[in-house]
Amino acid sequence: MAATQDALYAALDVELSWSEKELPERERTKHVHRLHPYLGKFIPQLVEELLRRHVATGGRVLDPFAGSGTTLVQALESGMDATGIDLAAFNCLLIRVKTERWNPFTLEHDLRDALGRFERGDGEGVAATGYVAEWFAPQAAADLLRFRSLITGYECADVLRVVLARAARSARLTTHFDLDFPSLPQHGPYWCHKHKRECRPVERASHFLRRYTLDTLARLKEFSRARGPGEAVVLHGDAREIDPGSGFDAVVTSPPYPGLIDYHEQHRYAYELLGLDDLRECELGAAEGGTGRQALARYVDGVGEVLARSADTLTPGAPLLVVVNDRRELYSDVLERAGLNLIGRYRRHVNRRTGLRAGEYFEDVLVARRP
Ligand SMILES: C[S@@+](CC[C@H](N)C(=O)[O-])C[C@H]1O[C@@H](n2cnc3c(N)ncnc32)[C@H](O)[C@@H]1O
Repeated sequence: MAATQDALYAALDVELSWSEKELPERERTKHVHRLHPYLGKFIPQLVEELLRRHVATGGRVLDPFAGSGTTLVQALESGMDATGIDLAAFNCLLIRVKTERWNPFTLEHDLRDALGRFERGDGEGVAATGYVAEWFAPQAAADLLRFRSLITGYECADVLRVVLARAARSARLTTHFDLDFPSLPQHGPYWCHKHKRECRPVERASHFLRRYTLDTLARLKEFSRARGPGEAVVLHGDAREIDPGSGFDAVVTSPPYPGLIDYHEQHRYAYELLGLDDLRECELGAAEGGTGRQALARYVDGVGEVLARSADTLTPGAPLLVVVNDRRELYSDVLERAGLNLIGRYRRHVNRRTGLRAGEYFEDVLVARRP
């Protein structure tokens, strides 16, 4: 694609601007894309279309900000190999669970066996302390800790860890309208803005553990039928330091936006229950860092460095496809810092599912390349 004025002021790409009717929630959350909530992911169909436009079947794709693994899952579905890097340990666990080629018999056995033992009352009753005692009702904490005690020893232990985290998220003492970043535990009944009635915080976790064990099993089986022959590699750490190898045919990624989301904090319950490594001080663009001048300069430098390193891994002429909402107009500096040329830009209209946030919302896919 030639560098033209169009590249800089792209018209709306209608093929990438789906309406709710064209792309209902069921499709956007197909198979493993709904294994666990994750704030800040892009939709699978966007990745699917970008891969169709830019990468041949059998190619290799890199996502240095892999998040919940949308790029990796879609690359596998499109018959490619994929490598993802993420700083957040829980995200890496989630991606591994989504993309591993599980033995179907072991998977079925392990999940049903663990659930059966849990429902028969097996497992250790441990006293809740700290975060768990604070954020869960006594019965919910007891359910989660007993389920956790049953996990080790199974070949599919990581799948059970993701089930445990998902149940913990649903069972926290939060209001229904503040599930992403609750600030204080909710102990009594409250007026629920979401359901327009009085609601009560959750008291137990056993029903979530059952529901999510069975749902996870069904979703993993569905994906095992949808995926191609490719494999995924998941690397945990800072993308400014990790070497993912070479010979990639494209980078498809969405960097964190500055000052918007704390990626570790959104899964705090998982870090607490699973004892995962917390590397939040290396998060690029963390909400906690704010959007002051220095924070934005660090952001440009950090994301620029990651994109430069990613470009080094590509075969000659291969593109970097970077999904951004560049409201702060930082990306000409980011690309310059990375030594990349902008050769194209797709602009898409993002369909807001809720009526809560008014106004039009657009997102750009920057197509960049080494000069
Ligand atoms: C916008 S999200 C990516 C979402 C992904 N496209 C998806 O669909 O799930 C950005 C990700 O960058 C990760 N991240 C932030 N700083 C990082 C760093 N220094 N190295 C690697 N990953 C980092 C965050 O943990 C987060 O998961």
